[in-house]
Amino acid sequence: MITIQRAQLQDLESIIAIEQHVFDTDSYPAFVIRQLFDISGHYFLVAKEDNSVLGYVLGGLNTENMQGWVLSLGVHQDGRGKGLGKQLTEQLVEVLKTANAKEIALTVYPDNEAAIKIYKHLGFEGDVVLDNYFLDNEDRIIMTLKTNQ
Ligand SMILES: CC(C)(COP(=O)(O)OP(=O)(O)OC[C@H]1O[C@@H](n2cnc3c(N)ncnc32)[C@H](O)[C@@H]1OP(=O)(O)O)[C@@H](O)C(=O)NCCC(=O)NCCS
Repeated sequence: MITIQRAQLQDLESIIAIEQHVFDTDSYPAFVIRQLFDISGHYFLVAKEDNSVLGYVLGGLNTENMQGWVLSLGVHQDGRGKGLGKQLTEQLVEVLKTANAKEIALTVYPDNEAAIKIYKHLGFEGDVVLDNYFLDNEDRIIMTLKTNQ
């Protein structure tokens, strides 16, 4: 059975392997993931089957303006197409709403059809392409979801 749960320290090695596999040169370095684990608490979720990590979502909340973020989402090739990306994102959105996030934001490559489908399905909106958002001379879309909090 596949379950979505809070990431544990022992999951980090698998999470880092998936992050590096799916994002390649754009991936967060391992030490950044480790530090984000320390500050993200219940905004860091994994999808697990038989104790093996198939995917993760990492979020955060800026408590100054109560804006939540989906910072990273990755599903291992073997786990794709089973709705895990959608479930992970949906669960993170619920956790952020419970924490009274007013808005949830994320960035995505304009050609990432699978991810954009998930975000639109969950109510995220926005199609403004920002060039060089990450100072890497590449385009990103920022999408946001108002939570009515
Ligand atoms: C994006 C990603 C997380 C999706 O994970 P997943 O578990 O396969 O996604 P789901 O099974 O929840 O599928 C969500 C929807 O996208 C669709 N989809 C999946 N792959 C697709 C593709 N390559 N092209 C178009 N649509 C696709 C599914 O059919 C599904 O739609 P439906 O609900 O109408 O059936 C995964 O492909 C991934 O890790 N990609 C690389 C990292 C990445 O891009 N992360 C997001 C960064 S913003």
